[in-house]
Amino acid sequence: MPQDNRLEVNRRDLMIAGAATAASAALPHGAFAQDALRRIPAGASVSTAVGFTVNGTPRELTADNRLTLLDALRESLQLTGTKKGCDHGQCGACTVMVNGRRINSCLSLAVMHEGDEIETIEGIGAPDTLDPMQAAFIEHDGYQCGYCTPGQICSAKAVLEEIKAGIPSHVTADITAEMRVTNDEIRERMSGNICRCGAYANILSAINDVAENEA
Ligand code: FES
Repeated sequence: MPQDNRLEVNRRDLMIAGAATAASAALPHGAFAQDALRRIPAGASVSTAVGFTVNGTPRELTADNRLTLLDALRESLQLTGTKKGCDHGQCGACTVMVNGRRINSCLSLAVMHEGDEIETIEGIGAPDTLDPMQAAFIEHDGYQCGYCTPGQICSAKAVLEEIKAGIPSHVTADITAEMRVTNDEIRERMSGNICRCGAYANILSAINDVAENEA
């Protein structure tokens, strides 16, 4: 019987632990962030020195550990081409490239990027030296207000690289076949970049144009 009691206690503990985990999982992301913030004593120093490369230039800063990469770029380094839309990983306006892969910079902390190579829209092209994707967006009217455009262009360039690299998406029918640039592939891979003006058809044309010229 003592053995059974031990088993019963263990099972009950497990159930309690499981329920606690499930309750934690049900909490919104913001609740965890607020809880974490409450644990930091008022006035406590939580800054860390971090160094990374932005558009080929080494940059160093001492960042609050809670500073997002997006805010570091915009507020600390004055690279305001990268936009803040939702600040919650839902709109794609803050898309930048890190070590050749696109990320939502609002979901990443600056201090996590020691030694990384970061590319923003400012590094992709300038008015007199436009990247082909930027030129295609202009030619095809792939924007209206332009707020989401830097993120759209960073993602668009990454999409073509991902397809070239043979990385499948959710709409890739045959992952063993040669990856092709199709409207479905582009739409799926660009689905994380929201355009409130609804310039999607023109964005699609711009990306197809660049893909055809690269082929
Ligand atoms: Fe980062 Fe919206 S601002 S996804």
